[in-house]
Amino acid sequence: MSQRTFSIIKPDAVKKGHAGAILAEIEKAGFKIVSIKKVSISKTQAEGFYYVHKERPFFGELTEFMSSGPIFPVVLEKDNAIADLRKLMGATDPAKAEEGTIRKQFAASIGENAIHGSDAEETAAFEIGYFFAGFELK
Ligand code: CMP
Repeated sequence: MSQRTFSIIKPDAVKKGHAGAILAEIEKAGFKIVSIKKVSISKTQAEGFYYVHKERPFFGELTEFMSSGPIFPVVLEKDNAIADLRKLMGATDPAKAEEGTIRKQFAASIGENAIHGSDAEETAAFEIGYFFAGFELK
């Protein structure tokens, strides 16, 4: 069944000029781009987005990085979108990511790992709503 997921092309990938190549991989894998925008977020806005990780030792580093430059939040649609995007992204740590995955090709480290993808339906709903209004999701 068709499902929506949420992704972010992270500041490292945007800075290196990899956003287009990453979106091309995503489209090639059968995802439809429902909505996309380019934004820069504050550290406070990054903290709100990643609040589930607020007790983690890397929270400061993560929110500092995510507010360090422009990002592309994206809403994607496909059958089994959540699991399929995570497979296409590869492991969080690019050193452990499989050949051909986005992180294997474009990520530098566990922090600067090029792309984010929702891990479950509830998270996808929260994350889509964090960045997009209903009228932007037709
Ligand atoms: P993401 O899928 O965006 O969700 C949470 C992020 O935290 C994850 O990708 C990583 O970029 C980041 N992260 C996870 N572990 C670490 C770590 N040990 N150090 C820095 N960042 C981390």
